[in-house]
Amino acid sequence: MEFGRNAHRENPQSGGAKINCPAASKRYSFRSRLPQMNVQELIDTARTLVAGNKGLLAMDESNPTCNKRFAPLGIPQTEESRRAYRELIVTTPGLGEWISGVILYDETIRQQKKDGTSFVKAITNAGIIPGIKVDTGAKDMAGHLGEKITEGLDGLRDRLAEYSQMGARFAKWRAVIAVGDGIPSRGCIEANAQALARYAALCQEAGLVPVVEPEVLMDGEHSLDLCYEVTEEVLRTVFNQLYTQRVTLEGLILKPNMVLPGLTCPKQAAADEVADATVQCLLRAVPAAVPGIAFLSGGQSGELASARLNAMNVRFKSRLPWALAFSFARAIQQPALEIWLGEEANVLAAQQALWHRAKCNWAARRGEYNAAMEGTGATYVP
Ligand code: 13P
Repeated sequence: MEFGRNAHRENPQSGGAKINCPAASKRYSFRSRLPQMNVQELIDTARTLVAGNKGLLAMDESNPTCNKRFAPLGIPQTEESRRAYRELIVTTPGLGEWISGVILYDETIRQQKKDGTSFVKAITNAGIIPGIKVDTGAKDMAGHLGEKITEGLDGLRDRLAEYSQMGARFAKWRAVIAVGDGIPSRGCIEANAQALARYAALCQEAGLVPVVEPEVLMDGEHSLDLCYEVTEEVLRTVFNQLYTQRVTLEGLILKPNMVLPGLTCPKQAAADEVADATVQCLLRAVPAAVPGIAFLSGGQSGELASARLNAMNVRFKSRLPWALAFSFARAIQQPALEIWLGEEANVLAAQQALWHRAKCNWAARRGEYNAAMEGTGATYVP
């Protein structure tokens, strides 16, 4: 019995010679029809993004989010400030030793260094792969009080073609799932999962690796167990939808939350407990075909995020089908931002802090991060 192209050709109804399974004629294939060459490119890029114990640096804050981070530090909330801050990041010497890819925002991918070099060129010259955030934000979901649906599918095919032309090789979409009284709802999980899968299919069609980010938020009093349950449900739904939309799993990166108790849960968890719960949850819900899992930090401190990623790799690394990597924004950038404060004179010290956090996370992927790497033990040798 044959499925796919041959079964269709041999269907007696359509003039073919022989077939044993009439149902096969109605089903062409459940697989993506991307040309094999393009699929291989996606797989190679996805693997490169998680190779060498490196990870992703998310610097794709939308303008409102970037301004929100600047405001409490008294940094002017202007396009030039945002540009200067991103120049600081992409010109950090030696960053490419720890970082495989950076995620840009629509404003940022069009910006240049002061000397006129485009950010995309500066990033590529540093041996880092440029990526781009392509969702247009999480909006209140109709009929679902307290829940959000991520938008951005309209016109996405054209935007992806433009970003690809500008040099982006991967793209991110973030869905947010809140945990609270009676939420998340099935409707919210399914709508977000379907949007993630449709975006991922469009990315692969455009030759960009999708970084699929379903984030179960840390806000709230919920327990570690409830976060586990919700994360498993969300991931199972997302992978069902990815399959339905014919997304090639080997050519994507999953960017999930770690399994954590809510920020105001009275019972917080040790790094080992977080590591056990997170890896067990992922093993139940994430197919082995996925090459890499790169966690978001979600508001954890840089040190906690490194310690938890380290614990996962110490305890499980040699036994897992996928790489456990990082794709942090705040957990890499925040100390650097607090040093920079918008002042040219602080750029070098801020770059040192950024380099240091990136290196700590590289070490955490190797299971070699420890507290002695922080504070006075920190050395900057780009
Ligand atoms: P955080 O690491 O600050 O959670 O950001 C990751 C990210 O890219 C959110 O979309």
